[in-house]
Amino acid sequence: MEVKIYIATKAHLKYAQSICDLIESAAKARGTGIAKREPQYIEKKINEGKAVIALAGETLAGFCYIESWGHDKFVANSGLIVNPDFRQLGLAGKIKKKIFRLSRKKFPDAKIFGITTSLAVMKINSKLGYKPVTFSELTDDPTFWAGCQSCPNFDILTRNNKKMCLCTGMLYDPEAKARKKSVPVENPVVINVEPHTNLTQTHEQ
Ligand SMILES: CC(C)(COP(=O)(O)OP(=O)(O)OC[C@H]1O[C@@H](n2cnc3c(N)ncnc32)[C@H](O)[C@@H]1OP(=O)(O)O)[C@@H](O)C(=O)NCCC(=O)NCCS
Repeated sequence: MEVKIYIATKAHLKYAQSICDLIESAAKARGTGIAKREPQYIEKKINEGKAVIALAGETLAGFCYIESWGHDKFVANSGLIVNPDFRQLGLAGKIKKKIFRLSRKKFPDAKIFGITTSLAVMKINSKLGYKPVTFSELTDDPTFWAGCQSCPNFDILTRNNKKMCLCTGMLYDPEAKARKKSVPVENPVVINVEPHTNLTQTHEQ
């Protein structure tokens, strides 16, 4: 079956409720406190052009959207969900790639980050160039951390002054990436030597 991944448009607003239901049932199944989303919020993200949707015909296969924090200095790709019927097929990786590219286009200077306990998400993020970091490297925007309140581990986060919890922080830093690319190659030391052996000599004589 063909699955198509789109940047969501008004044509996809009708999926808002199903997206919320999918997120809620996944949170219940995992026993995590993934924040409950309201359809109006999903619709807002779609209307802003900040969401990616995967469809198999008319069936909702997956979804993800962009959030920004700390005056757009930090961006998170949130609400990643894949319909259980379409899991383990590489779909989340493809959705994340599309939302990552959209995030880079819309917020080219922002650091892209996430916190997760999901091995699948860690693998996907690593492939996109995210690195594991301590929470000190992430946004200090209180509205982001307020989103953790519905998590059963929130007491651990608060006990540790929001410095650590059970989630792993992961960060894509465009500046670090650019620095790495432009690392100057040091001028080599040049010496003139006559090699002892004939370097063009081969074993086939
Ligand atoms: C997490 C989730 C989005 C993964 O979707 P998916 O389409 O099955 O993931 P993919 O097929 O793209 O797999 C990506 C990688 O994760 C691995 N993976 C997938 N599910 C996994 C699991 N349950 N446990 C461990 N690894 C898993 C895959 O093998 C793949 O690894 P590879 O790149 O080494 O081959 C999906 O299971 C889901 O919607 N879960 C509920 C919601 C959720 O947990 N969201 C994340 C919140 S942070």
